Amino acid sequence: MRLLVSVGAGSLKKNFVRVHVRDHGDDVVVLDKLTYAGRRENLQDVEHEFVHGAIEDPRAVAEAIDGADAVVNFAAETHVDRSIAEPDAFVRTHAQGTYVLLETARARGVRYLQVSTDEVYGSIAEGSFTESSPLAPSSPYSATKAGADLLVSSYHHTFGLDTLICRGSNNYGPYQYPEKLIPLMVLNALHGDRLPVYGDGMNVRNWLFVEDFARGIGHVLEHGVPGEAYNVGGPDECPNIEVVRRVIELTGAGEGLIEYVTDRPGHDRRYSLGSEKVRALGWEAQVRFAEGVERTVAWYRDNAWWWEPIRSGEYRAYYERQYGRALS
Ligand SMILES: NC(=O)c1ccc[n+]([C@@H]2O[C@H](COP(=O)([O-])OP(=O)(O)OC[C@H]3O[C@@H](n4cnc5c(N)ncnc54)[C@H](O)[C@@H]3O)[C@@H](O)[C@H]2O)c1
Repeated sequence: MRLLVSVGAGSLKKNFVRVHVRDHGDDVVVLDKLTYAGRRENLQDVEHEFVHGAIEDPRAVAEAIDGADAVVNFAAETHVDRSIAEPDAFVRTHAQGTYVLLETARARGVRYLQVSTDEVYGSIAEGSFTESSPLAPSSPYSATKAGADLLVSSYHHTFGLDTLICRGSNNYGPYQYPEKLIPLMVLNALHGDRLPVYGDGMNVRNWLFVEDFARGIGHVLEHGVPGEAYNVGGPDECPNIEVVRRVIELTGAGEGLIEYVTDRPGHDRRYSLGSEKVRALGWEAQVRFAEGVERTVAWYRDNAWWWEPIRSGEYRAYYERQYGRALS
């Protein structure tokens, strides 16, 4: 099978591309704009074709899709805090970009899978969301992702395009840009920098190891029913402050580094996904949080070559704007 994967240079796509090239023998074309979060070196050990371009650019998409049997759209601006500070890129990539990819897939008649997020359902105090729960996003990130999901469904209902949607819960693992909670805490702990915790630290997330989500997406691509959405939730829920305490234990840092900071505006309290539908297709998460976080901390400890250029680049300025203090 020949797959167009837009995009391939973030952390999740790396795992997906590796599995499809190595284990399935697929040809993979990666289309990536290489924003601050996209790095060519993430794919240096996996054979693939690469097209440097944006999903909202019809010419780049036409070049990349040539000969593909399916399109898997990972492309996104993914950081909620950045969507609050600068929403425009989120609208462009999620709305216009998804539209261009869908139109191109429709013209070629190829299967289309949209990678989406649990955040489209909004916050839930008790119980878990199913795929028929209403979409109630609360940030510009989740609202534009929800809009993209609705557009994807409309292309199935209106044009009969063979579409699938995979909604994953909070991912973590190697190669994740350090603006996200776990790599942020790991790198700050390793450097003796403060560990900034939003609000009271009791926001609960449903943690999913990146390899499990990558496998889930592949599973849905292969076995999913056209027109359907599938939740892919992690096996464990955990409040942020417990995640931070676990990172402290694993890095040997002190609890005194914890600093409670002003909460994110509109911060969703709890996400929780029911994943029975994807389980019925035969997918199961394999990595529990206790193991995954240990593997993640070990990876960051051993791979300074990967994060050093980030920590000394644009990320420093972002961090200072966001938390009002400089990194060491
Ligand atoms: N990270 C999570 O916790 C999580 C959870 C559930 C779902 N998801 C979804 O999974 C997907 C991937 O997330 P991630 O965390 O790996 O992302 P990431 O932030 O690590 O990487 C984003 C990638 O998208 C590329 N990109 C951004 N805008 C683009 C555009 N207009 N055209 C082409 N390329 C563009 C970047 O260069 C980068 O390679 C997203 O759709 C996200 O919504 C992520």
